Amino acid sequence: MPTIPFLPYSILMGNLGILCLGLTIYWSQHWLGGLAWDGSRKMFNWHPVLMVTGMMVLYGTAALVYRLPFSQMGSKLPWKMLHAILALIAFISAILGLEAVFKFHNVQKIPNMYSLHSWLGLSAVLLFSCQWLVGFASFLWPWTPIWFRAIYKPVHVFFGSVILGLATASCISGINEKLFMRGKNSTSYSKLPAEAWFANVLGMLILVFGVLVLLGLAIPEWKRPDVNSQDFRQVKKYATLNDRK
Ligand code: HEM
Repeated sequence: MPTIPFLPYSILMGNLGILCLGLTIYWSQHWLGGLAWDGSRKMFNWHPVLMVTGMMVLYGTAALVYRLPFSQMGSKLPWKMLHAILALIAFISAILGLEAVFKFHNVQKIPNMYSLHSWLGLSAVLLFSCQWLVGFASFLWPWTPIWFRAIYKPVHVFFGSVILGLATASCISGINEKLFMRGKNSTSYSKLPAEAWFANVLGMLILVFGVLVLLGLAIPEWKRPDVNSQDFRQVKKYATLNDRK
């Protein structure tokens, strides 16, 4: 894996996250009729905005917290708390995003949970809720035994990436579905109007954001040394010896 400097990566990720969010809001405002919380079509428009905010931008940021260079040394507790708080805000945002689409469907008498997108999306949010609860119980609950934390940690890391993958797939399938629904006749999406161009680009940017979060998680140099690893014990031993000199 090539070594990439963290600063340009984090600037790129910040801009990309803001761009994804900005383009989703622009799509809702400019083409989909704007935002309102009243059971109308405008209420649906909160769904993509809150889902991209919560399940992509905030979730991705929470995942990368431990890669910040200044999180590498000292107590891990403040970083654990920041990770948990960002994930909680992401989760609340996702729940509000689901409320927006379910309420819209119920008020308009549209059936629920019929599409592949809705199955993928709900799986992502359900897994996320389990991940948050078990993560909190394992890493922030002071009475959890160390052996349980050690067993659960790789499971948490694995499912963290699975959820991000599911969230990315949900956003892309949701954008695609909305574009098909927007077509006045069966050929209009295939004529690639300006809105379809715009939303296709948004989908590609969301994909790039998701892939870059996974890349950031995979770079070994950015990982906080594990207190149980041999490397970390050697660094600690060396630092203690130096202190005694
Ligand atoms: C991680 C992100 C997302 C999740 C977890 C998610 C989840 C869901 C769920 C569970 C439903 C079913 C609601 C019901 O049946 O009443 C739904 C519906 C819908 N979503 Fe998403 N969604 C996400 C992102 C998006 C995005 C970015 C769009 C883009 C416009 C979108 C477009 C739609 C559309 C058009 C529907 C209504 C049709 C249907 O039921 O499939 N979604 N979403």
